[in-house]
Amino acid sequence: MVKSQETPVKIEHAGIDETTRNMLQQLKIVTVIGSGTMGNGICHVFAQSGFNVHMMDINQSALDKALVTIGKNMDRQVSKNTLTEEQKQQSLSRITTYTDMAEAVKDADIVVEAATENIDLKIKIFQQLDQLCPERTILATNTSSISITRIGSFTKRPGKVIGMHFMNPVPVMKLVEIINGYATVAEVTNLVYRLSEYLGKVPCIVNDYPGFISNRILMPMINEAVLALQEGVAGVEEIDTIMKLGMAHPMGPLQLADFIGLDTCYSIMNVLHMGFGAQKYAPATLLANMVQAGYLGVKSGEGFYKYTPGSKELVVAERFQNKSWKI
Ligand SMILES: NC(=O)c1ccc[n+]([C@@H]2O[C@H](COP(=O)([O-])OP(=O)(O)OC[C@H]3O[C@@H](n4cnc5c(N)ncnc54)[C@H](O)[C@@H]3O)[C@@H](O)[C@H]2O)c1
Repeated sequence: MVKSQETPVKIEHAGIDETTRNMLQQLKIVTVIGSGTMGNGICHVFAQSGFNVHMMDINQSALDKALVTIGKNMDRQVSKNTLTEEQKQQSLSRITTYTDMAEAVKDADIVVEAATENIDLKIKIFQQLDQLCPERTILATNTSSISITRIGSFTKRPGKVIGMHFMNPVPVMKLVEIINGYATVAEVTNLVYRLSEYLGKVPCIVNDYPGFISNRILMPMINEAVLALQEGVAGVEEIDTIMKLGMAHPMGPLQLADFIGLDTCYSIMNVLHMGFGAQKYAPATLLANMVQAGYLGVKSGEGFYKYTPGSKELVVAERFQNKSWKI
């Protein structure tokens, strides 16, 4: 454990109402489980908002890397004058790192789990959290696709289990999709809603159905883009350009799939396919083949595009450079 000083949280956001202030005052310690891409971003926004954050990972090197990433991301805010150097130092001093879950959660008021997306792992983590956390602790998960109701059913406190789905990159993206499990109680939803607003986010509450709202709509769009490519309707560049310029999307669906990770897209399509039992959610064969062959997008160096370290140029992967769509 690497200890930082723990100071009382002062909730004094301008315009915040009395009820919200009283509710948020109960949240003195926030534990984040997993310090990867999402976990470090979640720690960043909580610490910047004045909360004492316990950042826990099984891997010390992931924790070290997360602290460096948070520092660098805060430096970017300092250079843009959205954070002062002093605020940066104060925020970083609120983060304490742990590799021991029992230590990290023993005084937690809320836990946000952001470990690897794997159902068996999440169930195991929630069973441990249920045993190790005080009775009052709210257990939130950042899962992209796993049922909140199912995760909650493995605990003795399903009423206090909720989805708190941040978007990547967390310090930048405004949305928090709050997912109510079947048993989640209204007080918990209300608190998590107000907390998300206090973090400077825009929360939207949805119910627990496969893919929630974000991935139920996004992933079939990505899958349809892959199907269109597979059928030879258009090339990678054409599909992405049509969606960018025609629909004002900041990024085309194939580039976005590479960014998210094709394995993640494939796994979420499988959750939708199994959860709804409808053929329209079947993952594209091309997507399945690419995942099985290890072409996962940015993280593996190639997906629909080829990624060269140090280069920001967007180059279509050679196997998709078929010019038959061009004049
Ligand atoms: N990456 C995204 O764009 C994105 C967006 C929204 C939601 N999510 C969700 O967020 C969660 C985390 O995703 P990520 O992209 O940050 O993953 P990641 O692979 O970057 O990080 C996962 C971290 O969890 C740690 N971990 C694994 N088992 C653990 C355990 N038992 N206890 C503590 N830590 C453990 C790993 O060491 C790793 O550091 C997943 O549920 C994912 O679906 C991801």
